[in-house]
Amino acid sequence: MKYQKLFTPLTIRGLTFPNRIMRTSMVSGLATEEGFVTDALKERYQREAGGGAGSIVVEAAVILPSRSSYNLRISDGSFVDGLRHLMDAIRKVNPQPKVGIQIMHFLKIARSGWRQKVEDFKPEELPIIVEQHVKAAGRALSAGFDFIEIHMAHAYTLSSFLSRSNKRSHPYGGRLENRLRLPIEVYRAVRETVGDRYPLGVRINGEDFTIEGNTLLQSTRIARRLARLGVDYISVSAGSRFEDAATPAPNTPPDPMSGYSGHRMSPAWWFPDRTHSHLAEAIHNYVRAGGYDVPIVTVGKIRTPLQAEQLLEENKADIIGLCRPLLCDPDWPMKAREGREKDIVKCTGCNWCLEADSRYEKVTCSRWPKGVLAAPSPFLPSMAGPSELPEDASL
Ligand SMILES: Cc1cc2nc3c(=O)[nH]c(=O)nc-3n(C[C@H](O)[C@H](O)[C@H](O)COP(=O)(O)O)c2cc1C
Repeated sequence: MKYQKLFTPLTIRGLTFPNRIMRTSMVSGLATEEGFVTDALKERYQREAGGGAGSIVVEAAVILPSRSSYNLRISDGSFVDGLRHLMDAIRKVNPQPKVGIQIMHFLKIARSGWRQKVEDFKPEELPIIVEQHVKAAGRALSAGFDFIEIHMAHAYTLSSFLSRSNKRSHPYGGRLENRLRLPIEVYRAVRETVGDRYPLGVRINGEDFTIEGNTLLQSTRIARRLARLGVDYISVSAGSRFEDAATPAPNTPPDPMSGYSGHRMSPAWWFPDRTHSHLAEAIHNYVRAGGYDVPIVTVGKIRTPLQAEQLLEENKADIIGLCRPLLCDPDWPMKAREGREKDIVKCTGCNWCLEADSRYEKVTCSRWPKGVLAAPSPFLPSMAGPSELPEDASL
């Protein structure tokens, strides 16, 4: 087979991913306003599961009671049945991919432009954050997910504690050791809940891409500390911080996607392919040099199976994260395995999907026929919208 490494299985804590392709978490806007699973959401994941990815991380599920319209929720027991039905629906289509859920605690924002900061939490509120993760993890287990990913990246709460922009004083802010305290407490408490035999991954930022944010100097250390704790994989993302976001228009909440940092999370067409592989590589090397072999996930504008295979061959990562490429063409893995690379409908990095999320709309792909909520099946380049941006826009 042409892409040997890409299609080599990987076992983490007894759970075997049939290949190295991970569909990273992607908010869909397909939940109900209250955060329940819908048929459209099930169909989205069923379509993706049929395409051959080895693992799928279901979109960030909110773990706190605060309002967050159309985001998937796992913030109380009433959400478990829907999530279980989602798992059943995915397995019915394809039992092969391992399916996890990302659990996410967010900082509140308001239309007035106000946003909550880590400095705003009273000491007595921090154990509540830990407890909310623990409870969410218990619900994820009840719903039947194969693994859990704790969200410690982007603009969210745990990432904000980890970031150099955390200006709390001792014991939960300031030095890295202190900034790690809450994420470590969360990890340990969730591990205790799920037990020693259940896979628990984390997602961190390799770089915050803000002046006051973390760089590789911090993220390599964070990754090694998490590896020492026994996390089962580390997914390396980037950016999406609030600190350099544009000033919101009146009556609009601040948008972490609006600044340079925001533009780094899902690199658009003007960024080079494999934009963030150097972040995963540095973290991979630093963690390995510390004696840990925890798998590292790289993500960010990986467009072709050849690029993915090379990243694995060059030991830059152990798992290839694909988000927009699999939204666009969920059959990317199957087509790669069958040597039908030419049939892959490529993500152009236009970020229609990302902008839909910022507009609080349902997330769709500009290359699909208008009005559909999942990629057609089968889907071939001849059926897709324009494949490349205009030539004079290429640089
Ligand atoms: C619409 C959209 C929603 C996303 N939602 C999440 C999310 O819920 N959690 C997360 O960790 N990353 C999220 N991401 C980031 C992706 O997982 C991924 O890291 C990023 O898009 C870069 O990978 P790609 O080039 O393969 O798309 C989202 C990205 C997009 C475009």
